[in-house]
Amino acid sequence: MSKTLIAPSILAADFANLQRDIEMVNESEADWFHIDIMDGVFVPNISFGMPVLEAISKHAKKTIDVHLMIVDPDRYINTFAALGATILTVHYEACTHLHRTLQAIKSAGMQAGVALNPHTPVSLLEDTIQDIDLVCMMSVNPGFGGQSFIENTYHKVKTLKQLITAKGASTKIEIDGGVTSKNAQQLKEAGADVLVAGSFVFRSENPTKTISELKKLTS
Ligand code: DX5
Ligand code: ZN
Repeated sequence: MSKTLIAPSILAADFANLQRDIEMVNESEADWFHIDIMDGVFVPNISFGMPVLEAISKHAKKTIDVHLMIVDPDRYINTFAALGATILTVHYEACTHLHRTLQAIKSAGMQAGVALNPHTPVSLLEDTIQDIDLVCMMSVNPGFGGQSFIENTYHKVKTLKQLITAKGASTKIEIDGGVTSKNAQQLKEAGADVLVAGSFVFRSENPTKTISELKKLTS
């Protein structure tokens, strides 16, 4: 089995010391930067937008994984490509023409991700899974960091893994929300390829060590 990737969520970083926190991630065993963009419409919270992402991109030396929690994401695909996103994830629930959106993300030179809210069944991806590079499985309701992990996620990850295998797709499974050292191993065993961790990393005493701990637990 391949090593699980760890993606610290910058939403939980100290925004007054953003460069310091980005450099901590650069120098850690983390694999990706997870960037949460919220519009206050799709989710009941506003995080940060383009100027902040531009500042992050300037310092980040690892894959930039952008999670859009916004309505009508098609409007901003080219903007996020120009800002340095490697992976652009849109919500299934925010896309009327998901297939078209996925093609547009790829044409802009990025990998295409689809996020599923906790209530959205995996089966809805049956006809698009081969076009999806990453499924971001929400293990909390999107909008806030620091929430508790929803246990039904394990079941959804297994179902998704089966779908990916059955269709011969190479889609990665990312888990987002409430990830800690308590659930990391079980998530890997269920089929997760990428674990996003916000509060668990940045609220810990030694974030670099916490990242190593997550990495060890899942290798
Ligand atoms: C939630 C965001 C998550 C969040 C994870 O809407 O998509 O990426 O930052 O934070 P924690 O790890 O604190 O649950
Ligand atoms: Zn996220």
